[in-house]
Amino acid sequence: MKDELIIPNHVGIIMDGNGRWAKERGMVRTMGHKNAVKTLKSLCIHMADVGVKYCSLYAFSTENFKRDKSEVNYLMNLFIESFKKEFDFIKEKHIKVVFSGRRKPLPDKVLEAMDELVRDTKNYTNLVLNICLNYGSHAEIVDTTKKICELYKNNQITLEDIDEDFISHNLYQDLPPLDFVIRTSGELRLSNFMMWQASYAEFYFPKVYFPDFNSKEFDKAIIEFNKRNRRFGGIKDEKKSS
Ligand code: FPP
Repeated sequence: MKDELIIPNHVGIIMDGNGRWAKERGMVRTMGHKNAVKTLKSLCIHMADVGVKYCSLYAFSTENFKRDKSEVNYLMNLFIESFKKEFDFIKEKHIKVVFSGRRKPLPDKVLEAMDELVRDTKNYTNLVLNICLNYGSHAEIVDTTKKICELYKNNQITLEDIDEDFISHNLYQDLPPLDFVIRTSGELRLSNFMMWQASYAEFYFPKVYFPDFNSKEFDKAIIEFNKRNRRFGGIKDEKKSS
């Protein structure tokens, strides 16, 4: 990738299209998820190499529990297996893993694998990988509101302490805002993904299904990001807008 390109500080990825990827190949849906893990590994290595500092991945939404029981079970086992066996690259690349989402009703074995990964990587300072698992933006806003109400009730804060920064610092993870959100498979939705954090993000919707979203596709996304004129509600940059 060209050196002069701006690399977004925080990238969000909605990994969509696994089921369709598998179906087009005459495979069962779960094979799409399995192949997605391979893609995810090389993508994370690539992101760390090009200098992405934060990446949030939508791995499982609070709504995904409505899926067929067998698919939910498959995904839970895939998380356990991936975190325990497939994530060696995390340690090699000094990637720090954090999770966003509700712990309930995730199975104990998934929680143990998550906790172990967080513990083992907590001192790494390269890319921060925020895995959104049993995550929903609405749930996050509810949980953050309850947390802040508790602080207020216990006289640990006053009403004046509550501002935008305070809310940002009290979400599931205290991360910088998203600069760039990529959703694969051509769907044009946010689907309850990091709504607070994505308020000024640029959006990119490549047609490829996630298992085909390789490093080359990521580089294409970065080139597209560099064409955007980010104004954050302010004045247009004349040079870029012409
Ligand atoms: C959406 O595609 C994908 C998911 C709900 C699961 C994402 C999970 C992974 C990529 C597995 C690995 C993740 C980690 C963190 C180890 P879909 O099934 O909705 O596809 P479709 O829209 O084509 O049906």
